[in-house]
Amino acid sequence: MAGRVSVITGAGSGIGAVIAARAAAAGDLVVVADIDGDAAARVSATIAGSRPVTVDVTVREQVSAMIEQVERAAGPVGLLVNNAAVASDVPFDSLSEQIWRRDIAVSLDGAFHTISAVLPGMIAAGGGAIVNIASVNGLTYVGNEAYSAAKAGLISLTRSIAVRYGRHGIRCNAVAPGTVATPIWEERMAVDPDVITRAAKWYPLGRIGRPEDVAAAVLFLAGDDASWISGVTLPVDGGLLAGRLQMADEIAIAGTPVVPDGDT
Ligand SMILES: NC(=O)c1ccc[n+]([C@@H]2O[C@H](COP(=O)([O-])OP(=O)(O)OC[C@H]3O[C@@H](n4cnc5c(N)ncnc54)[C@H](O)[C@@H]3O)[C@@H](O)[C@H]2O)c1
Repeated sequence: MAGRVSVITGAGSGIGAVIAARAAAAGDLVVVADIDGDAAARVSATIAGSRPVTVDVTVREQVSAMIEQVERAAGPVGLLVNNAAVASDVPFDSLSEQIWRRDIAVSLDGAFHTISAVLPGMIAAGGGAIVNIASVNGLTYVGNEAYSAAKAGLISLTRSIAVRYGRHGIRCNAVAPGTVATPIWEERMAVDPDVITRAAKWYPLGRIGRPEDVAAAVLFLAGDDASWISGVTLPVDGGLLAGRLQMADEIAIAGTPVVPDGDT
């Protein structure tokens, strides 16, 4: 897929910046798209074969203009990664309509806008790959109601696009990361510096994730090794969604070993 045109939203920071670097290293022409134009420019300056674009994914016209410009300059988009998101950290009983709408708008409306904009070019080209960055929040309750609803919607949209456009050679998948220390946590860490340490103990693999863990899964789903995989949501979560050891321990009969004698 050398020379594939890849658009990564929210690539001015955190996980998106690492996805952009990995895609470029694999030979893609990468569009580093972010609402923060300075951040996009800073990241793009470190990645050979990339271009920064300032775009607010919640504004349909801005997204269409970006995709038109990219297609004119470089050809149809071969990979779209919907990574831009904001996460409010407001309890449900004090969640304002504005905050609710913002979380939904960036994660879900944003993906609606970008996917709608790239589909005609992908169909004309005979295929393409879309990877949506969801979250464990879209699959189980771990707080952040508005963000979680947006990510659950994104997981549903992933399946819909995979099924509806599969006949055109378009694959659409999602990843569902667990906790990764990126700037999305900054606001929370300013008032609760220990939050990441407390989160880490819930992960069966004993640590939180790194942007590279997520980027590796994204590049796999985006590439030819995943050519018969579509419509899935792959947790990249250190085993978090696999079960609840704390519950198993708490309800175990006192003194019962976790692996009974004779079991292998
Ligand atoms: N960090 C985590 O713990 C974690 C866990 C699960 C899922 N995720 C998901 O991973 C993705 C990347 O998050 P991150 O942790 O790197 O966060 P981040 O805050 O570092 O990066 C998000 C980027 O999105 C950009 N952005 C925000 N609104 C935008 C808009 N309207 N238009 C365009 N760009 C916009 C921001 O400017 C920022 O550069 C997100 O989808 C997030 O929900 C993160």
